Amino acid sequence: MVNRRILGNTGLAVTQLGYGSMGLRGPRTWGVRVVNDHDAERFLNAVLDAGINFIDTSPDYGASEERIGRFIGSRRREFYLATKCGCVYTQREDHLELDHVWKPDVIRRNLETSLQRLRTDYVDVLQFHGGDAETLQREGLIDLLTNLRDQGLVRFIGASSSLPNLPALIELGVFDTFQIPYSCLAPQHHDLICRAGESGAGIILRGGIGQGGPDAEIQRPALNEVWEKARLEELRPNDMTAAELILRYTLSHLHCHTTIVGTCNFAHLAENLKAAARGPLPVELVSEITARVAKVMCP
Ligand SMILES: NC(=O)c1ccc[n+]([C@@H]2O[C@H](COP(=O)([O-])OP(=O)(O)OC[C@H]3O[C@@H](n4cnc5c(N)ncnc54)[C@H](OP(=O)(O)O)[C@@H]3O)[C@@H](O)[C@H]2O)c1
Repeated sequence: MVNRRILGNTGLAVTQLGYGSMGLRGPRTWGVRVVNDHDAERFLNAVLDAGINFIDTSPDYGASEERIGRFIGSRRREFYLATKCGCVYTQREDHLELDHVWKPDVIRRNLETSLQRLRTDYVDVLQFHGGDAETLQREGLIDLLTNLRDQGLVRFIGASSSLPNLPALIELGVFDTFQIPYSCLAPQHHDLICRAGESGAGIILRGGIGQGGPDAEIQRPALNEVWEKARLEELRPNDMTAAELILRYTLSHLHCHTTIVGTCNFAHLAENLKAAARGPLPVELVSEITARVAKVMCP
């Protein structure tokens, strides 16, 4: 049984380890790795078999929505589904061109397409994929999302956001959830997560495993630099991988209702489930990591 938390005022009991499906985007999109249909099917079913009940996707994640619908649409009652809107995407010969456009017809088209691809009548959370408070209000998009919620096509509305737009979006007081980046290697949104959580919103953290940390297959030099400069290796207990330390630090955030870790690797999925079962890190370890990283961020 994967630990569950209540996603703020939504009341949904979500697994604290969620699944981010961006990696299932498929060929001719972007990035260096491509997961084929066969593996995507096995992977999505393994996620549900393991008991994870929260999946994040987006219309502009290539084949992700379509694969969720095709491979686990028949298991729809087993999971909560969050997707996004405001996405304009054009398939070029070898890549997917992405943009965000804040107009009602884009939002309506995104949701209609998402419901078809996901093979469902409703999504649990529809999130603005970025955007700023002033534009979303001026274009009537918050009212539009509220209407979609009233119609039952969407159960809850949210925003996937970060600095500098996030504070004003929290201030609006209209969102049921916020999706925010956070890990010990990128902790800049710590206080805003608290503010959003204290407002009663459900908190969905992304980047919660620091994109795999220093042992990741796809290396992220900027994050590795934080790991090295903060000398976090010294704090890593012998029985814990770097990825486990990073993930459990994220799970230790008071307002982390779920963190949508992305992986397309079965061994990593198993490792992350085991790490999540071990729960938050000891308080002293969290404090020491926080202090060391803070020194690196603001020397
Ligand atoms: N603006 C937005 O709304 C936005 C932006 C970005 C992401 N997202 C959402 O957030 C989700 C996660 O974001 P993210 O991919 O940026 O961050 P993440 O979950 O921190 O990192 C995912 C990366 O970590 C690696 N990984 C996972 N478990 C590992 C382990 N145990 N050991 C080593 N490496 C491991 C994965 O590679 P392997 O496949 O090798 O495991 C993958 O490359 C996305 O899927 C998407 O749903 C939203």
